[in-house]
Amino acid sequence: MKYEEIEKIVKETLSEKRYNHSVGVAKRAVELAKIYGEDEEKAKMIGIVHDIAKQMPKEEALLYAKENGIVFDEIEEKEPSLWHSKLGADIAKKKFGFTEEMAQAILYHTTGNVNMKIMDKIIYLADKTEEGRNYIDLELARNISNRDIDEGVLYVAKVAIEYSLKKNSLIHPDTIYLINQLIEEKENKK
Ligand SMILES: [Fe+2]
Ligand SMILES: [Fe+2]
Repeated sequence: MKYEEIEKIVKETLSEKRYNHSVGVAKRAVELAKIYGEDEEKAKMIGIVHDIAKQMPKEEALLYAKENGIVFDEIEEKEPSLWHSKLGADIAKKKFGFTEEMAQAILYHTTGNVNMKIMDKIIYLADKTEEGRNYIDLELARNISNRDIDEGVLYVAKVAIEYSLKKNSLIHPDTIYLINQLIEEKENKK
């Protein structure tokens, strides 16, 4: 499917606010893809689609998961805000013809994960540093992300955890594993 067609569906599916966020993520993903030598078109497509399942009603989401063999882990079960990653990755493959590699970036965009590929990191960072975000020191997060992708992911993941703690929401262990891996890699480079 072409980008324009996909964007139209995203616009029809999401609220104006979330659609604007998605456009911001697509734009930021292209910037990062340019810096880190990844496919800009792919980055744009993943960016616009990444939150496609964000506003799916709870009942519908549970039914979709059941019908498509999607299993939520222990934390996801208790935190419905995390569901849209797995659902979105599945929808992207089935509805928009995304490859496994592109869908993986959607799968990891909320919590992050160990062994993320560059495109996964680009989408993770784009989601957290698009121009409409206001819970993060955007200028600092963007500067770090533009300079060093792993430093960017580490900074953003730490902010994400602080934010979850403040909101009293559950912390997914994948974010902790990601932070540990990045810290270890950094130590090994010294
Ligand atoms: Fe999301
Ligand atoms: Fe998002």
